[in-house]
Amino acid sequence: MAIQKLRQPIITVAGHVDHGKTSLLDSFRKSSIAEQEAGNITQKISFTSFTSEHIKSLCPLIEKSKINLEIPGFLFIDTPGHAAFINLRKRGGSLADIAILVIDINEGIKPQTSEVIQILRANKTPFIIALNKIDKIKGWKKISDNLNENIERQTLHASEEFNEKFYTIIGSLNSHGFEADLFYKITDFTKNIAIVPCSAKTKEGISEILFVLCGLSQKFLKEQLKLGNVAKGIVLEIKREKNFSFIEAILYDGILSVGDEIAIANFEGLIKTKVKSLQEIKPLSFQFKTVEKVSAAAGIRMQLSDKISILPGMPFMEYKNEKEIREEFKKETETIKNDKSGIIVKADSLGSLEAMIFLLKQNNIKILKAGIGDINKSDILSAKANLEIDPINAVILGFNIEIENEVNFNEVKIIKDNVIYKLIENLQKFREEKSKEIERDRMMELANISKIQILHQHVFRNSNPAVFGVRILAGKIKGNQELIDKSGEIIGRIKKIQLENKGIELAEEGMEVAISIPGVNFDRKLSDKKFLYSNLSEKQIKKFKDNKDLLSRSELFALEEIKSIKKINI
Ligand code: GTP
Ligand code: MG
Repeated sequence: MAIQKLRQPIITVAGHVDHGKTSLLDSFRKSSIAEQEAGNITQKISFTSFTSEHIKSLCPLIEKSKINLEIPGFLFIDTPGHAAFINLRKRGGSLADIAILVIDINEGIKPQTSEVIQILRANKTPFIIALNKIDKIKGWKKISDNLNENIERQTLHASEEFNEKFYTIIGSLNSHGFEADLFYKITDFTKNIAIVPCSAKTKEGISEILFVLCGLSQKFLKEQLKLGNVAKGIVLEIKREKNFSFIEAILYDGILSVGDEIAIANFEGLIKTKVKSLQEIKPLSFQFKTVEKVSAAAGIRMQLSDKISILPGMPFMEYKNEKEIREEFKKETETIKNDKSGIIVKADSLGSLEAMIFLLKQNNIKILKAGIGDINKSDILSAKANLEIDPINAVILGFNIEIENEVNFNEVKIIKDNVIYKLIENLQKFREEKSKEIERDRMMELANISKIQILHQHVFRNSNPAVFGVRILAGKIKGNQELIDKSGEIIGRIKKIQLENKGIELAEEGMEVAISIPGVNFDRKLSDKKFLYSNLSEKQIKKFKDNKDLLSRSELFALEEIKSIKKINI
């Protein structure tokens, strides 16, 4: 049987903004992309293809150790910040075979680093840590070309600073459930995460990073790297140029040729189309060359023969066997399956939406509706429908997206961010506040704190029932509410409330309304009284006291008055 060809491992570089992802890749490429980038910030996902020759030339250790390099090279993917990294998913896991998590040793693990770690763990992506910018440690010198030796031979000061920072990071990694150590101290790479201290500036550690990546790929990933029979890929971007558009994508398995039929999955189902033209990224370059066929793993550009709507993150697959395609894409619909009730979730791509759904589920947050693209009218309507029945879910979470123009979102809460954990944190904050509000409403529904002033100049009827004007000084009044006077004597129950001759359900602080009370004679009972209060039971008073942070100042004062009228001591 012929030996199955191995494909290049796909290696994503991830980490916090500015920790040096692009610069590290530049050291591999020996170019200086990071310096040419606008504002030094990577704007879009980019890929670089490395041949095995290039790896060998950068990493003399390979030949020195007499290692037979079987992989044909690497396909590196650089991501802007971490939002794009989250997008890089394929069905059921990560697009990357290995990830390099870049951490600036001087800054340590930042919130976005933590989120990347969570996602790597969730996807079971093997990763190594490039502990970058060691040149910035005070007194650090490049004494030897051998990293291991160099770390051991630093001055006491530099060594102390290095160790302090290093062990803080090891500690944080432990709290994320990972054991990690310096790569040359590790004996079992399946149990420990390898850390390679490095500097994209002085190029220390660069060759060691490549060495570890080669070792891991050949030792643990050979099965997964065997080139499959069916071309599979993932859309990164749709680019429009003048009157034609093309797709930038990553081919992660198989061989794709011009003329091949492919299926692309979206929410509605499968779209079938044909590859019209094909380009492949040139090694160590950002330029593409036109090709007839391309073998994974590769960064590609393709034009399709049909005009179809495609979004970033969509998977595609060579159209060979309908059953296999349905099987492959079924996983997709399973992750997006929604709950009966819950919040509305929007994201910029299928990959980020999946990652978000995953993290929300881990936090036990239910999702009513999930979709790709900016927040639109229909999302607002879905959230609005929740307002009445399920107010803590009347909220839309948006990852890396905007709100469409002219969408009126006054009543519903929209939380936007490009960090998922921040979205979750803000959602939880919103829900806490909303629950308090609901609790308050509920409490107020059962009983009201009220202090009202009788407006003696507005007595409309003396009895059967008595009708007179009042001003609400604190809290609110409702129909059927029992009122007492300052001595604690029960006056009667409110029957109706009127505002400017119209019946109303409820009157709040500051309002002047007319109320009717049957069974009382105004002249006899009320002509000498100034204030009336709601008749609260001891239990109700206690409940209000327990929730006093929900009450306004005037309600608090009125509650104290009622408490002393009723001679209750709590
Ligand atoms: P984003 O693409 O914006 O997420 O950033 P990035 O992680 O790609 O970082 P980038 O490579 O653009 O580096 C950020 C800054 O750190 C640049 O000014 C680099 O010159 C600097 N830098 C990167 N690596 C090193 C290093 O090892 N040592 C020192 N001293 N500076 C570095
Ligand atoms: Mg960058």
